[in-house]
Amino acid sequence: MSNGLLSSLRATLPDASIRDNAELATRDPGFDARNFGASALVRPRDTTSVAALVKFCAEHGIGLVAQGGRTGLAGGAATSAGQVICDLGGLNQIEEIDPFARVAIVQAGVTLGALQGAAAVHGLDPGIDLAARGSATIGGMVSTNAGGIMAFRNGTMRHRVLGLEAVLPDGRVFCDLTRVLKTSAGYDLKHLFIGAEGTLGIVTRVAVQLDPVAGASAAALVGVPDAASAQRVVRHFLGSTSARLTAAEILWRNFASLMQRALNYSPGSLPLDAPCLLVLGLGADNIEAARQVLEDGLATVWEEAGIIDGLVASSEAQAAAMWRLREETEQIERAHPMAPSFDVSVPAGTLDAYVARIEAGLRALDASYTPYVYGHLADGNLHISINCDGPVSHERHAAIEDVLYEGLREAGGSFSAEHGVGLEKREAYERHADPVKRDLAKAIKALIDPGDVMNPGKVISGE
Ligand code: LAC
Ligand code: ZN
Repeated sequence: MSNGLLSSLRATLPDASIRDNAELATRDPGFDARNFGASALVRPRDTTSVAALVKFCAEHGIGLVAQGGRTGLAGGAATSAGQVICDLGGLNQIEEIDPFARVAIVQAGVTLGALQGAAAVHGLDPGIDLAARGSATIGGMVSTNAGGIMAFRNGTMRHRVLGLEAVLPDGRVFCDLTRVLKTSAGYDLKHLFIGAEGTLGIVTRVAVQLDPVAGASAAALVGVPDAASAQRVVRHFLGSTSARLTAAEILWRNFASLMQRALNYSPGSLPLDAPCLLVLGLGADNIEAARQVLEDGLATVWEEAGIIDGLVASSEAQAAAMWRLREETEQIERAHPMAPSFDVSVPAGTLDAYVARIEAGLRALDASYTPYVYGHLADGNLHISINCDGPVSHERHAAIEDVLYEGLREAGGSFSAEHGVGLEKREAYERHADPVKRDLAKAIKALIDPGDVMNPGKVISGE
């Protein structure tokens, strides 16, 4: 980008903080090294400035990439020279929490953790939770339709959003800050922006539904022979009327062993020696009640579910240790830099067969492949990382995808569960998404963003 263009950008947005690519090179780009490949980063402070930035980019034919917490795993926020970043971190106000209506109005750059904290003051919660809560922003989570740990109870981000505001590629503001659940007033167009990864507009404000939270939550770690057994445990707790299951995360042995080694857990400190581990979270009025429901429930279902081992955390520190085992997934990256990773949704009845099939399929590609598999058991969302020191060749990546995605759509699953398509899954999208859906998506993109200003090259191709 020329110095002249940068100066006129500064003149157009006198209140926004603007950094050029030399300044960007000195900063941490977040999860994806390509996040700061752009020629400039602009941090507007309100919707009006976002609209001014969008108009500027549209007039000059500059690609504009919205960024939130930069925790995305599919390259949706990656940028290249000539592009401009719209950093939503300046829109970081929780504008309102209405404890009676159970609604929060937040700006796009508010982190999930900040919203959780503000809602907790009122005994409420946004009903969605994920490991990157400290950095991931509501706008980014809307844009990828994030799911996380509680999706099996409360749905994904799509189900938590009551309304939203977004700046369109021509600079107009689409304003649908509906704060009620029911609206049957024609096409519900807010859903176009949810999961669009910033390709149709930039989400600037969101009305999020809040729910009451339990007084305390307890955790348990349960060793089981397979996912079917884990599902029997989960079904039991889902039926409880005295407490609320809030998490049911599954870890296959390879993943659990890697985490145990990386986190330096002493042998015997937790029951870790089973083919699958289940981390359960359960909320109740107080911590004693929550622990008791877990203890009683595990005892009741022990034989029927074929439980191998189990432990209810007796302290917060022990519960935190169980959760670290599940959540510190960056340990995979440390052990295998650039390891290819995937994010699939698998129909509930087929989890064990799926894992057995992909393990065999990957072994057939390379005898050394023993994937790390873990994820959100209760909605069938598995994360899979390959134990190779990547990056792998393009052909090998496609071959791995063929193994992982084969038959998923036909079975009612998905090749992308909660991380989006971004750049990483562009080819998978072409090969595995329904062709009519792809046609329709292209038509919508062409209608709303004919100049291909918004996050060009992501999700779908613009032409
Ligand atoms: C998780 C991220 C990878 O569930 O989605 O930890
Ligand atoms: Zn996840």
